[in-house]
Amino acid sequence: MYRTHTCGELNMKDTGKDVILCGWVQKSRDLGGMTFVDLRDRYGITQLVFNMDSNSDLCEKARKLGREFVIQATGKVKERSNKNHKIPTGEIEIEVTELNILNRSEIPPFTIEEDTDGGEELRMKYRYLDLRRNSVKNNIILRHQVAQEVRKYMDSIGFIEVETPVLVNSTPEGARDFVVPSRMQPGTFYALPQSPQTLKQLLMVAGFDKYFQIVKCFRDEDLRADRQPEFTQIDCEMSFVERDEILDTFEGLAKYIFKQIKGIEFSEPLIKLPYQDAMEYYGSDKPDLRFGMKFVNLTDIVKGHDFIVFDTAEYIGGINAEGCAGYTRKQLDELTEFVKKPQTGAKGLIYLRYNTDGTLKSSVDKFYSAEELKKWADAMNAKPGDLILILAGEKKKTLTALSDLRLEMGNRLGFRAKDKFFPLWVVDFPLLEWDEEAKRFFAMHHPFTSPKPEDLPLMETDPGKVRANAYDLVINGVEIGGGSIRIHDSEIQKLMFKVLGFTDQDAIRQFGFLMNAFKYGAPPHGGMAFGFDRLVAMIAGQDSIRDFIAFPKNNSGKDVMLDAPGPISGMQLDELMIDIRKPKKD
Ligand code: AMO
Repeated sequence: MYRTHTCGELNMKDTGKDVILCGWVQKSRDLGGMTFVDLRDRYGITQLVFNMDSNSDLCEKARKLGREFVIQATGKVKERSNKNHKIPTGEIEIEVTELNILNRSEIPPFTIEEDTDGGEELRMKYRYLDLRRNSVKNNIILRHQVAQEVRKYMDSIGFIEVETPVLVNSTPEGARDFVVPSRMQPGTFYALPQSPQTLKQLLMVAGFDKYFQIVKCFRDEDLRADRQPEFTQIDCEMSFVERDEILDTFEGLAKYIFKQIKGIEFSEPLIKLPYQDAMEYYGSDKPDLRFGMKFVNLTDIVKGHDFIVFDTAEYIGGINAEGCAGYTRKQLDELTEFVKKPQTGAKGLIYLRYNTDGTLKSSVDKFYSAEELKKWADAMNAKPGDLILILAGEKKKTLTALSDLRLEMGNRLGFRAKDKFFPLWVVDFPLLEWDEEAKRFFAMHHPFTSPKPEDLPLMETDPGKVRANAYDLVINGVEIGGGSIRIHDSEIQKLMFKVLGFTDQDAIRQFGFLMNAFKYGAPPHGGMAFGFDRLVAMIAGQDSIRDFIAFPKNNSGKDVMLDAPGPISGMQLDELMIDIRKPKKD
């Protein structure tokens, strides 16, 4: 028997017991007559003690243990004189009578502790060592727990988990595909699924009615903290349902997960914010509603006073930073610099200070009387002590810049605590997005998303105005999931392809299998997918999904540990009948 207990379970109740533990040497301390070793495994750390007086050979052996050696220690549980109340095993230690070195270790490239100075690249190269660190290990365990809860809940409400293939053809999510060459049909390629979108719709045609899957998806797109080239979705689809039944079902799942994992209950139904309002009041389709600071459109109130910046602006909007009237010149300059950064792109920032004595002071005083400024303050619902921040310019850009400023103020004022959660639905997204370069419409979600029935007449007259029966689940400013009611009527699907500029042949070539299936009785259906990595990172209060994936890729899409992607042998290329072109010289 290798071990009787783990390194995380022994405590005062066990004193006097003979035990055997196995694990890794976290560190050892040599105090002359005594040697202490912290032994670590997945479950925790237990202190081992070796006494020179009672067993000098054993103590000598313990002194030679290096970091990360794998050992087996046999001994007796004793009460510790110098107790550590920070860890569950901190009141006891093991007086070792037998020590077995199971494996040696080279000196690790970084020490395994809570915070490492190993640096991202080194951590990723030695990910198996990084995963020994408590913080990363706990993230992976949290991921496991969330996955188990998802399965439990979905099963309890009658969903069936079905696996779908990974070697498929192009799927409709709009990113670039990862492709896999076929040896048996040289010159042809599989594409890895960007999501199982079309396959889950086929499962609805097959009558499965309620499907889910925790599934890998692959997208060749620019990477960010919350994007990986291969990531995981909780993918779901249902038949014979309307939008609100779908939202209720998955709201139920989200609430259940927060309750089980975090002990947080959201008792009220989540709000459903139309996309138009999200853009108009928060400048974002994923607003962070942990705090208010809703935009107020000041365009009509402030124009017409010879202040050229306002008079030439398409849109002028403000936010009220409550209680910030005391902001110093330096703080206002910092905010001005912030909005002028290329990512934010505003030309300048105008402020209105509502002093606590009731006077008003603005950066454009010379164009506006005190009464005029009071009108702004009233429109903003401001009170003495508040600071109003105003941006002006082209509407779309200004809304985006104002959104950045709002989030920045939210950070500065401590409104974006990581342990506070505000989930909501954003609904009624536009069906189509105009691409200026390609001079055509693209589906904002994917081409099977159903238009809202009341907007159908606009499909041919004003397609840009058509709203989709699509929704996103947003938590704390992050898109955690999204979905839609699908088109199941072949006439509407034809119309959609027409608006997207697909010829009949294009549509048949890409999605013929689905259109064919729809000839044999497609039920009304819809669904959604949660970004599983994002959900777990959100629950843990972190922005980057990378540490919630056991073996992630870096920002260039590389796995530095496996050294993937890498070249393949000439023989493999020959079998696949592939010639690699030399990169073009500039
Ligand atoms: P969508 O493309 O919105 O919808 O994806 C669903 C959710 O997946 C997450 N996500 C990602 N997470 C990490 N890295 C990525 N590269 C990445 N891309 C997306 C997001 C997103 O909300 N088939 C549809 C769903 C449906 O209509 O049912 C789909 O894939 O959290």
